Amino acid sequence: MTDNSMFSLQDKTAVVTGATSGIGRQQAFALSRAGATVIAVGRNAEALESLMEDLPGNGVAVQTDLLNADLSDVLHEAVAMTGPVDILCNTAGINLREPAENVSRKSWNDTINLNLSVPFFLARELVPDMRERGGGKIINIASLQSERAFANSIAYGASKGGVAQLTRAMAEAWSSDGICCNAIGPGFFPTSLTAAVFNDSDIAARNAKQTAVGRNGELKDLDGITVFLASSASDYITGQVIYVDGGFTAK
Ligand SMILES: NC(=O)c1ccc[n+]([C@@H]2O[C@H](COP(=O)([O-])OP(=O)(O)OC[C@H]3O[C@@H](n4cnc5c(N)ncnc54)[C@H](OP(=O)(O)O)[C@@H]3O)[C@@H](O)[C@H]2O)c1
Repeated sequence: MTDNSMFSLQDKTAVVTGATSGIGRQQAFALSRAGATVIAVGRNAEALESLMEDLPGNGVAVQTDLLNADLSDVLHEAVAMTGPVDILCNTAGINLREPAENVSRKSWNDTINLNLSVPFFLARELVPDMRERGGGKIINIASLQSERAFANSIAYGASKGGVAQLTRAMAEAWSSDGICCNAIGPGFFPTSLTAAVFNDSDIAARNAKQTAVGRNGELKDLDGITVFLASSASDYITGQVIYVDGGFTAK
């Protein structure tokens, strides 16, 4: 008889920001299939509604703009419905793809705020309760740009370099309370954020060739790592950025 209980998220509640699209939506499904109740956070009301209809398990939608939300309050109503949060996936993010010369203070601040500051402040709201209940899982989203610079992405790269260090600093601050803090570093996955990359078949092919596996990511490649980092199977892993990039950074 097989026993997969170490990967079970039964009776767990997971917050997923960016759940309306791309990687966050994929994570919401993966966590739901593993048994978690999902609090899905996003701006797009229609996408939230369809996610609530399609999720295999229980879910609650929170429609909000995280750049303008009061993070001390944004999950309050949802948590009253689901019970306390065990897992936080900080997945909402933007890449405005501007040459360095064109970056305005606003686009810089929005990028750093959504990609780096919101993950910290949202996590900090949830930590006291996680600590009181003996632990939790925080999963950030890093990037190939946590390690190297790509064109037209200076604010994005700075934010994702920050996410890698934020992840280590979160672990230093909170893992003695049983809270594991890790980041997934995706390679190239087709989402609205990477449409510019995938719409150019030469660039897409070049990126695929740079991997060891020989192809770009498919969203389902992120299911295993998401459930693993959310589950008790990863209880001794913290402060790590785990690249899911087909070997892009290895080559
Ligand atoms: N795709 C890749 O290859 C790749 C590679 C490395 C890292 N990443 C990272 O993965 C994460 C998800 O990106 P993705 O590729 O899945 O992109 P995506 O499909 O564009 O999804 C971005 C998500 O962020 C949400 N979001 C954007 N601005 C927001 C705001 N102000 N308030 C609340 N939510 C907001 C969007 O919500 P609405 O649609 O509801 O506005 C959407 O759900 C990002 O952190 C990105 O940097 C992606």
